Amino acid sequence: MLNKESKDYPRRKVWIKTFGCQMNYHDTERVLSHLQKLNFLPTDDKNDADLFLFNTCAIRALANMKFYSQLGELKGLKKQKNSNIVIGVLGCISQIEGHELLKKYKHLDFALGTDMVDQIPEVLYRIYSGENKIVLDAFDKTSDYSIETKITHQSPQAFINIMKGCNNFCTYCIVPYTRGREKSRLINEVVADIQRLVENNGIEEVTLLGQNVNSFGKENHETFPELLARVNQIDGLKLIRYTTSHPKDLSDELINAHGNLSKLALHLHLPVQSGSNSVLERMNRKYTRESYLELLAKLRTAQKGIVISSDIIVGFPGETDQEYEDTIDLLKQARFDFIFSFKFSKRPGTQAYLMEDYPDDSVKSKRLKKLQDLQLNIQNEIRQEIVGKTMQLLVDGVGKIEGKKKWKGRSSCNRIVHFDGPEKSESLLYKWVLVKITSSTALSSQGEFISIC
Ligand code: SAH
Ligand code: SF4
Ligand code: F3S
Repeated sequence: MLNKESKDYPRRKVWIKTFGCQMNYHDTERVLSHLQKLNFLPTDDKNDADLFLFNTCAIRALANMKFYSQLGELKGLKKQKNSNIVIGVLGCISQIEGHELLKKYKHLDFALGTDMVDQIPEVLYRIYSGENKIVLDAFDKTSDYSIETKITHQSPQAFINIMKGCNNFCTYCIVPYTRGREKSRLINEVVADIQRLVENNGIEEVTLLGQNVNSFGKENHETFPELLARVNQIDGLKLIRYTTSHPKDLSDELINAHGNLSKLALHLHLPVQSGSNSVLERMNRKYTRESYLELLAKLRTAQKGIVISSDIIVGFPGETDQEYEDTIDLLKQARFDFIFSFKFSKRPGTQAYLMEDYPDDSVKSKRLKKLQDLQLNIQNEIRQEIVGKTMQLLVDGVGKIEGKKKWKGRSSCNRIVHFDGPEKSESLLYKWVLVKITSSTALSSQGEFISIC
């Protein structure tokens, strides 16, 4: 008889595909950590896998489509293997469409919602005991949010969920429906969690995760800057990143933290979405282009050299030429270090779904292309300014530049740098190094190794 939590499971292999944001990648690691205890090994080879999992994203139509086509492909494989394989769906599509998915895809065995990640051992126990077609999509109704971060990787970088859900209801966005209401962990719990990871797992860099970290702790009468100050004091921890920050809630206290806390990364991702006040209003973003630009100025004064990145949506319902030009103009003023930019994508269930969806797709594509070209020019200019400077990097892998293998590292300001190590050196993987930037393009920089820190 199988035990729900132990190794009486025969050795099996799991293939998992993750879509979407860092929350999903974080959940995937959590799932893999549970599966390890149930005797599963990860595999990239579909022919070798016993269990197939999709951790899905519902944010834009494209993310959905990729998942549906890959799920469809598994139908044949399941037939070939006489149904011995198990297929499950997790994540945001599963949360909102779990029942429909199971009805539509007969080869699918289960669907787990976003609050049900830790139920994976229970569900597999039921599946391997003969049940199938299981959907668990309830939101956790308890008021507290308490977890312990689980890590299966070797690198000294860890993502830490500090809160979940979102209360903002930007009119284009599906996340409040797929992740439920905001709930934060307690500061003491997060700090103890990170301390443990630093001591036991050699973690040196953390990224604190939430859809809007600026409203962290509200229900517990705690604040995000308080959390940052406490995390900054953890011995052995070297770098703190966080994402995502909503401009409407970015307080002076947080801006000051950027000036005062030594371990805070020299980078902030601050999605603006649009440079037009009327579009921002239709998006329910609750700030203006003027207040946004003022925030950038304050941040750049508080933390010298801070690098700002952003998200932009073009073609939001009813976006006029002038509204679009306002975004182009904002881009010129803000001088972001990089952006993620998207065509508006209509999501069922959101308020924008009901708005008349124009301009049409060809206009959206043209607008996106022009915006991206402009950003690449700006980015290129900014990156030329760092040539000749020395940067500290955490080496996180190798990359190929013009066919040659180079070490790849990331700086505190979130720039990716490729460089040659010293001849016959030991591995530089996961070490902190000093590198002098020798050349740069809009997307990556090349450097010369100076020393290990
Ligand atoms: N919580 C974060 C980001 C959430 S999703 C925030 O508030 O900034 C990441 C990005 O996807 C968003 O910033 C937005 O630019 C984009 N996005 C979300 N919904 C979208 C939609 N329906 N169409 C196009 N882009 C969308
Ligand atoms: Fe979506 Fe807005 Fe919440 Fe970000 S803040 S997750 S864009 S609703
Ligand atoms: Fe996608 Fe869900 Fe993240 S919709 S962006 S995976 S919160």
